[in-house]
Amino acid sequence: MDEVAQELIGLLGEANVLVAKQDQAPFLTDWLGKYRGTARAVVRPGSTDEVSAVMRACAARRVPVVPQGGNTSMSGGATPDNSGQAVVISLQRLNRVRNVDPVGNTISVDAGVVLAKVQQIAQDAGRFFPLSLGAEGSCTIGGNLAANAGGVAVLRYGTMRELTLGLEVVLPDGRIWDGLTALRKDNTGYALRDLFIGSEGTLGIITGAVLKLFARPLARATAFAAVEDANAAVTLLGAIRDRCGDRLTAFEFMTGECLALILRHIHDARLPLAAMPQAAVLIELSDQNDEIALRERLESGLMECVEQGLVLDAAIAQDGTQAKAFWRIREGVSEALVREGKAAKHDVSMPVSSIADFVIAADAAVGASAPGARPIVFGHLGDGNLHYNVLPAPGQSDADFAALVPDLTRAVHDEIGQRRGSISAEHGIGQLRVSEMPIRKAPIELELMRQLKGLLDPAGLLNPGKLLPLSND
Ligand code: FAD
Ligand code: MLT
Ligand code: ZN
Repeated sequence: MDEVAQELIGLLGEANVLVAKQDQAPFLTDWLGKYRGTARAVVRPGSTDEVSAVMRACAARRVPVVPQGGNTSMSGGATPDNSGQAVVISLQRLNRVRNVDPVGNTISVDAGVVLAKVQQIAQDAGRFFPLSLGAEGSCTIGGNLAANAGGVAVLRYGTMRELTLGLEVVLPDGRIWDGLTALRKDNTGYALRDLFIGSEGTLGIITGAVLKLFARPLARATAFAAVEDANAAVTLLGAIRDRCGDRLTAFEFMTGECLALILRHIHDARLPLAAMPQAAVLIELSDQNDEIALRERLESGLMECVEQGLVLDAAIAQDGTQAKAFWRIREGVSEALVREGKAAKHDVSMPVSSIADFVIAADAAVGASAPGARPIVFGHLGDGNLHYNVLPAPGQSDADFAALVPDLTRAVHDEIGQRRGSISAEHGIGQLRVSEMPIRKAPIELELMRQLKGLLDPAGLLNPGKLLPLSND
């Protein structure tokens, strides 16, 4: 047996060092089935000290390490390459909730705790943890931090970066940084915490975090509104914000093609409108009290927009069950896309005011580079974040479409570049976008990132091939 694996067994015990291919399999392919890797071993440490010991052993032998949480990355960030050299460190066994402080409104957890568990524990403590995304049943807090996850409540609560107070990190040389403070104010040096958030496992392994908790929203009002296009949706966003202010919690856009795809594949999804719209928005308000008044505020705002011709049809959920049914449509999109086939996924962000003309320009660019290909557009419009997915033309083979994707993606991302947008709003760079970094990031940005990487991980052992291109090529 490989002597590295032997040494790791000495550290973690045989049960927590997976060397057999069938045992490793679930850890070596990404959620989309786009990336497949091989590993020297998949290890499952049960404590921060064990993570540190594994990192020291791998560093001493210059063995590359791939951190993994729930393996739900949409950019291939948690999948090893095919060299068979890497050790995949799964953080799933680091799953203790360390402390819940309802007075200080904080929760301290291990990195391997699943997001849905943190949501539940916050609720049990009479509080609310707002990060919410389609993978919440399996993604972990460590992965949420490493990918700076967004989701459907960023509009009101921010991304994972804004939800985090303290971090515990094992560095590439095995040292442990205990930055698990629960302070909302601490100006004692550089923002080390923020360096690791969004670093996609390339600067350190996050083993613990202190997260913010919020007052539980006791009242919600949810609506599904038909609009003509993205431009109307942006105008509606402004109108609802003017009337509802910070009560506006989610504002999710879907095109008619997207809705049709969801209804085709998600059998318990029901459209709450009289007819299939050109586009639609799922709107949610939340507040501390008086759900009836909140619903009336949303309803009157939408009715005014109907009178102005901005909203073409609308349904207001009358209870939690109906609200859940509205969300079932939105939450079904990723699954529907996977069932439909291999989409070219683009997770882009831009100033909200640019969204309408971006969609027109991107659709035209797709038509030119992949005639007949079908844009399926949805996303967190309030954050300026669209998931601009493109499916092959009807009847087109995956291979023929795949040959067109590089040009198609370049065209879509050129439109983003012209609007000073981002080619990765929330899913991270991972393997998927790493080759585009030299095109899309200014040389000085790449230089600074490489210098930081060189300082913390001079041997380039942590998550090689992800986020940062190894050279300027
Ligand atoms: P993994 O996939 O295991 O890893 C993600 C990255 O973080 C990798 O680079 C990995 O190396 C690194 N990493 C993991 N754990 C650690 C750690 N402890 N320390 C250091 N690095 C680590 N994302 C959004 O932002 N918004 C969405 O709305 C959204 N919706 C999704 C819906 C579906 C159905 C799916 C499948 C995914 C969705 N995602 C979304 C993407 C994904 O769920 C998030 O990026 C999530 O934060 C990843 O968490 P994870 O634990 O699965 O991380
Ligand atoms: C979402 O918002 O549903 C996710 O980011 C997943 C996706 O883009 O497919
Ligand atoms: Zn998303």
